[in-house]
Amino acid sequence: MELQTERLLLREYTVDDFAAVHAFAADVRIAEYVDWGPNSAADTKQFLEMCVAAQGDAVRTNFTLAVTFANGDPFGSVGLSVDHGRGDLGYVIDRDHWGQGYATEAAASLLRFGKECLKLREITATCRPENTASARVLEKIGMVHVGTRTADKLIRGRWRDSLVFSAANSIAWHHAK
Ligand SMILES: CC(C)(COP(=O)(O)OP(=O)(O)OC[C@H]1O[C@@H](n2cnc3c(N)ncnc32)[C@H](O)[C@@H]1OP(=O)(O)O)[C@@H](O)C(=O)NCCC(=O)NCCS
Repeated sequence: MELQTERLLLREYTVDDFAAVHAFAADVRIAEYVDWGPNSAADTKQFLEMCVAAQGDAVRTNFTLAVTFANGDPFGSVGLSVDHGRGDLGYVIDRDHWGQGYATEAAASLLRFGKECLKLREITATCRPENTASARVLEKIGMVHVGTRTADKLIRGRWRDSLVFSAANSIAWHHAK
């Protein structure tokens, strides 16, 4: 699958994306707020193999897409994982491209896909309370802060709180009626 936004092409990963993905996935500044990384080469290889395998699933539950300019290398990732009609959204953008609205543009597009194409009942996303940029991205795409989970993510040996954001899906609700 592919999603085209105003400035971005969100496309399927291939194993040939290794170098570009590893450049940001091994960056400690990216890993600071997420429960993975900084990646070893083996971690990045495993990540790409998982993405490619998911593309072939009969009932696909993992939609992790490369954030690119058309025909360019990935400079970020956006993902939606689906479980029983609910989705969980996440994203990273490499350090050189922060602050230009790319996470917002990519996340908004995958959120819309989850609502309109997959008809998910609800899509949630979590971020660390001190990750102001990520919380702002979630607000900008219309998600609502619905609560805080205390000590729910183990990140490099430390239990961290999560802000929980939600987008309930009126389209799915109408669809189910
Ligand atoms: C979070 C992340 C994806 C944001 O990517 P981005 O492309 O820079 O995001 P955008 O440009 O779309 O939007 C960022 C918003 O946060 C704001 N922001 C950034 N840093 C901020 C800070 N320290 N304090 C307050 N606001 C901040 C920006 O001003 C912008 O809001 P605005 O459009 O209202 O001005 C990126 O910083 C990243 O990859 N971080 C590491 C991984 C990560 O945290 N992933 C999310 C895990 S929950």
